[in-house]
Amino acid sequence: MSSSMMRDKRYRDVPGTTLFDAEQSRRGYHLNQFCMSLMRPENRERFVADQRAYLDEWPMTEEQKQAVLDFDLNRCIALGGNIYFLSKIGATFGKSFQFMAGSMTGLSEAAYRDMMVAGGRSPDGNRIADNPDRVDDRSAPPGRASVTASIYSSHVPAMGAAMDHGKTDEPYWRPVFAGYEPTRSWLRDNTPDVILLVYNDHATAFDLSLIPTFAIGTGAHYPVADEGYGPRPVPGIDGHPALAAHIVQEVVQDDFDLTLVNEMPVDHGLTVPLSMMFGDVAQWPCAVIPFAVNVVQYPVPSGRRCLELGRAIGRAIRSYPEDLRVQVWGTGGMSHQLQGRRAGLINPEWDNAFLDRLIADPARLAESDHLEYIEEAGSEGIELVMWLIARGAMADQASDQSDAASPAPAQMPAPPRVIHRFYHVPASNTAVGHLVLQDTPTNAETASNGADQ
Ligand code: DHB
Ligand code: FE
Repeated sequence: MSSSMMRDKRYRDVPGTTLFDAEQSRRGYHLNQFCMSLMRPENRERFVADQRAYLDEWPMTEEQKQAVLDFDLNRCIALGGNIYFLSKIGATFGKSFQFMAGSMTGLSEAAYRDMMVAGGRSPDGNRIADNPDRVDDRSAPPGRASVTASIYSSHVPAMGAAMDHGKTDEPYWRPVFAGYEPTRSWLRDNTPDVILLVYNDHATAFDLSLIPTFAIGTGAHYPVADEGYGPRPVPGIDGHPALAAHIVQEVVQDDFDLTLVNEMPVDHGLTVPLSMMFGDVAQWPCAVIPFAVNVVQYPVPSGRRCLELGRAIGRAIRSYPEDLRVQVWGTGGMSHQLQGRRAGLINPEWDNAFLDRLIADPARLAESDHLEYIEEAGSEGIELVMWLIARGAMADQASDQSDAASPAPAQMPAPPRVIHRFYHVPASNTAVGHLVLQDTPTNAETASNGADQ
């Protein structure tokens, strides 16, 4: 992997051109959402009747509002606008794409039209080399963030309900919550700056109209979902848009297709693990990037793909230039089946072997196919493939082991340390499994040194 060449943003040097990437999208989020609102005739009418008043309904910067009022599309683009969104403003006033394109070139409408009739603008003189303001070295600054630990846990909604309704001291629940006590106290001394929380959405944010296989939250805030019982009385989460955008930039260039989600409610898959780990709090102690995986409708991603994705996420985090301590969590499982005559299936032998294999030999575990999960751990036990994403982010998985250029096994960082391991049957319909793995600072360093060579 020729990282710094592949990862740079040399597209910024193409003259007179702004690529719409995650950074621009973040800058122009509300500007573009305003444009999108003009898809509705009643909004177009209100905007035309009083542009300033309509713009003031949007949390846009004054600069952005002024650029819209001036119909200055170059300025709008510099401020994060995307031309397909901005074209809604033109459409509202009956302007063509050609008019809008021409307006950005410094030519009159007639001169622009003539230029196009004559064959259009030549790329000659319009390449990167012709840009006097180009930056010759756009190689990425060194990475300083680290993946400090990975945490794994079932996310049974009844565990959240037990906390929300003050039942954790009941005999049924006491052993479950006792199993998370060591983690709660360990986390008090090892609070990360950011958690990338891998979970699955359970027919909450995504219905059958849209089914992303891998979805990362690049937004600033996500509210707690109402799953039908009313929202849980726990805080929503604050994301980390800058780190999430960096992960998208890196991981998509590593050939993983991610869906970007700026707005969605988060369900028990995400909030229950946070409650189990941090207890009853008014505010979560760190930023949380939601990372949703489809395990609801087949085909769902393979264990191998999840492990490889986790490796790519780990590399991406370690190449982030700011000094951040990041944990990656994998949630769902262990064995459970919520449907049909086989409901209630529990397989403690398989679950415990899964934990052993996850710790010691994740690459081999990743070869297990869906059928093994379904047969041995129940239809909903397939949630466990998500644990491989978190495991892949640990330092000993940093380099792609199928890559001939990888370091020899002797130079590989050691496997992570097991801080805590817990297993209990049952919580509701499910076997509860929980694991905390920590990377030593040496491991994390070896991984980041190895990643950029
Ligand atoms: C249960 C477990 C789950 O993982 C889930 O998403 C819903 C319900 C249960 O055991 O009741
Ligand atoms: Fe679940």
